[in-house]
Amino acid sequence: MSSTAGATAFTARIGRIEISATMAINSEATTMRSEGVDLVDFGAGEPHFTTPEHIKQAGIDAIQKNFTKYTPVAGIKELRVAVAMRHKQDFGSNYSFEETIVSTGGKNALFNTFQVLIDHGDEVIIPVPYWVSFKDMVEFCGGKCNFVATHAEEGFRLTAAMIEKAITPRTRIILLNSPNNPSGVVIAPEDLTAIVKLAASRGIFVMADECYVYLDYTGNRFSLGSLTEYKDSLLLMGSLSKTYSMTGWRLGYALAPKAVIGQLQKLQSQSTSNPTSIVQKAAVAALKGPQDCVEQMRREYIELRDHVVEGLRAIPGVKCTLPEGAFYAYPNISSFLGRGGLKSASDVAGRLLREAHVATVPGEGFGTSEHIRVSYATSKAELDRGLERMRKFFSAL
Ligand SMILES: Cc1ncc(COP(=O)(O)O)c(C=O)c1O
Repeated sequence: MSSTAGATAFTARIGRIEISATMAINSEATTMRSEGVDLVDFGAGEPHFTTPEHIKQAGIDAIQKNFTKYTPVAGIKELRVAVAMRHKQDFGSNYSFEETIVSTGGKNALFNTFQVLIDHGDEVIIPVPYWVSFKDMVEFCGGKCNFVATHAEEGFRLTAAMIEKAITPRTRIILLNSPNNPSGVVIAPEDLTAIVKLAASRGIFVMADECYVYLDYTGNRFSLGSLTEYKDSLLLMGSLSKTYSMTGWRLGYALAPKAVIGQLQKLQSQSTSNPTSIVQKAAVAALKGPQDCVEQMRREYIELRDHVVEGLRAIPGVKCTLPEGAFYAYPNISSFLGRGGLKSASDVAGRLLREAHVATVPGEGFGTSEHIRVSYATSKAELDRGLERMRKFFSAL
């Protein structure tokens, strides 16, 4: 076979997706850093905290005790029970371990759930801005994304009426991510509840990506799982990555009707199998151990959020809504488009990286063209360094 034939022999489905925008900027930033550039990194989507000691110790103990073999595909029962119990205790949900599966990161749980529910032509309603991977995950299945715009001037509010207009006979899933990556917006519990009632009345699933559910700064932490009467319509997707600062460990989960979990188990049995055995033990320690680490991190993020938003708003021409959760600010940089040869958010992020040595993520990957995402999961000193560089860059345009 010629090399040309080899290069063209990829599937239609892999041709439908692109490398994640956040991964792309991370790899450019990594290259620049390896070349000795003193970079300020506001691009990374991960906590700056180390994993709490007791969680790390549980992983080390698991290795020492040779807990290093295959486990059941859906995860050890102890962990599946711990996931369900933690969720019940914190949010008033009501899941059994058979309605729980653990996966190799939240991303893996999301990817697999789309694979078992979305066929060619099926539609998924996705509010904009959205996390980069949703669109590609749906399109990989041959599904169609039906985007619903939200607006910064209205605090990116999402209502059931907005969702209702987007429903078609092919709609299978309404995908909600609150707190939201990238905008930091928290959907009001009343709006979430109205959307679930609407979805249930139309036989549509609501998939709630709860990756940041513990990083909610409104003081009113809420999960759709508390609406136990709508359990049949809910797919709750969770992750330990941000809650316990465990991004590299790769542990996520799904809480869903037993039939869905069964299909996820089947898919997992033919792909990744169980998440890493020792990580499962660390995850049990995270979920069953003291939770004050979660609260400590949340409080620190609130301080960092206030600091970065104040700094961004102080840059003439930058507008920024106040994020209510997660660890991203999503400033509007549209007043600079058309200045200094800048045509798009990608241009802005690209030049910020190459000229000001500040890594951010352009809004295009999240479905908006007038914003950049600034991750504030870093120290105040680093925020100040980056904000100063941004101020100089924008002032010079
Ligand atoms: C909204 C959202 N969902 C899911 C994930 C997946 O996280 P992980 O695969 O590390 O559990 C991320 C990670 O950045 C995210 O931002």
